[in-house]
Amino acid sequence: MSMFWTQVETSMGQCLPSIDARQFLAARTLDLVNSCYDLPSSEDRFLCLKGQEFFFQKTLSKDHSLSCSDCHQPSEDGGRIPILKARQHGWQTSPNLMDIGRRERPFFWNGRARTLEGSIFWPLYHKDEMGHSPESLESRGGASFVVKALASFLRQRKGDLGSFDHYLSGDCFALSTQQTEGLKAFINSGCDYCHRGAEFTDNRTHKLVYYDLPNSYFQQGEARYLADYQRFSKPSDSISLKTKTPTLRNLTHAKEWGRFGFRGNLSTYIHSHSQQVGLTRSVNSEAISSFIREAL
Ligand code: HEC
Ligand code: HEC
Repeated sequence: MSMFWTQVETSMGQCLPSIDARQFLAARTLDLVNSCYDLPSSEDRFLCLKGQEFFFQKTLSKDHSLSCSDCHQPSEDGGRIPILKARQHGWQTSPNLMDIGRRERPFFWNGRARTLEGSIFWPLYHKDEMGHSPESLESRGGASFVVKALASFLRQRKGDLGSFDHYLSGDCFALSTQQTEGLKAFINSGCDYCHRGAEFTDNRTHKLVYYDLPNSYFQQGEARYLADYQRFSKPSDSISLKTKTPTLRNLTHAKEWGRFGFRGNLSTYIHSHSQQVGLTRSVNSEAISSFIREAL
């Protein structure tokens, strides 16, 4: 322990002298372009606003029943409800699309999409999502126009700075005592090994072992797409899956956690998650949870 402390004793601004967070964590910088209207050219503004329109339209789905925003709730930033059709399947949660332009590929939980555009084609054509075929998108300007517009809109949805960013830039009073404890515990427990950088993700997938996945996960025929699964004999067995490290930003209002939507409080999730990712030391999950919910 003391070794660790002395080794890292350089600086984290002036605020937390015993920890050098600059190796793995970084503050966000304020982005001046954060809505469609801030885009410089009128063509870009048009494309982005078109994307915004598409995103909220139920009529974007082939049977006019479902909009992108039904599953990717924009207002509650952490809202991730695979409601409606996806809820009936009950398998994966919908990732938070806020700030997706600040994250890097690959996209999707298993990292199968190499570009943001690629991850938008998927829901457009998926039978349980928008249910389109290339022909049915002709009347909206064609598939690639729809995808470009949606991608442009999503890239402009940027969250604000959190108190963590102010803290890292030298405002030592930006974090409460508990949040500061949480930040220390976050770093000392090794969370920032994967949840790193300004967006708290390494943008990589990691192989994790899961137990008791919902049956539906195995019934979807999704194994077809899942180059990531190793083997399973029956659903209750453990299974090893590659999962992309999600961002920890914008989780203030989230009620479910992780890829399969663990329901319960964040500190309980962190407790079992830290074991799942192989951190053996006990973690101060209460303080970490306050840091994540309130400061990011
Ligand atoms: C029925 C619910 C549902 C609808 C409707 C839906 N999505 Fe999704 N979306 C999901 C789920 C669940 C995932 C995660 C799937 C995965 O990782 O395999 C996802 C993943 C994504 C991702 C990848 C995010 C990341 O961080 O990797 C993007 C981008 C996305 N959706 C955009 C859209 C757009 C644009 C629309 C409308 C055209 C849309 N989605 C419609 C549920 C939905
Ligand atoms: C080996 C890389 C790794 C480490 C180390 C790690 N995580 Fe994660 N984290 C992940 C991955 C991958 C997921 C997605 C897990 C899943 O399938 O639900 C995740 C999910 C999460 C989530 C859920 C986010 C959401 O959107 O619901 C939280 C919160 C979280 N981690 C916090 C932590 C904390 C706190 C620590 C340290 C105690 C930590 N993580 C250590 C890789 C890591």
